[in-house]
Amino acid sequence: MAETLNVAASNSKAEQYRSLLPQLTALVSGETNRVANLANLSAALRQTFGFFWVGFYLVEADELVLGPFQGDIACTRIGYGKGVCGAAWQEATTQWVPDVDAFPGHIACSSQSRSEVVVPILVGDEVVAVLDVDSDRLNDFDEQDLEGLQSVASLVATIW
Ligand code: SME
Repeated sequence: MAETLNVAASNSKAEQYRSLLPQLTALVSGETNRVANLANLSAALRQTFGFFWVGFYLVEADELVLGPFQGDIACTRIGYGKGVCGAAWQEATTQWVPDVDAFPGHIACSSQSRSEVVVPILVGDEVVAVLDVDSDRLNDFDEQDLEGLQSVASLVATIW
């Protein structure tokens, strides 16, 4: 297992995601424990991009339950279709929210969160979890983040 990450901060964000992906794949390969892998993926994303909050919510019956994350304490359970995470689950599509106050039903786990991206993790047609990334700045995510985070979600689906 790779024990350090090597992503040049001077590179563009797209290049950082590109160089991070194989390292994340190496990080989770050979480990079958889901909690261990999701914990390390959260840490790797936070370490590389300095996200305010990054982590996973896992589908359990009719709710999303908080999984491994990096950041402040957060809401533990989110209903189907509720908030940005619940919408990503219900619609099985990425939610890109430049201003959380403009998203009807946004769940404010932290009053400091201003913008957010939530990517569903799809195994076949089924959403098994979501990857949630929050920023304390408005409009802090762009297409490069969306593409990069969707690649991470695809990697998670392969080890589900
Ligand atoms: N804001 C999310 C809830 C999760 S926290 O941001 C960690 C939502 O509306 O679903």
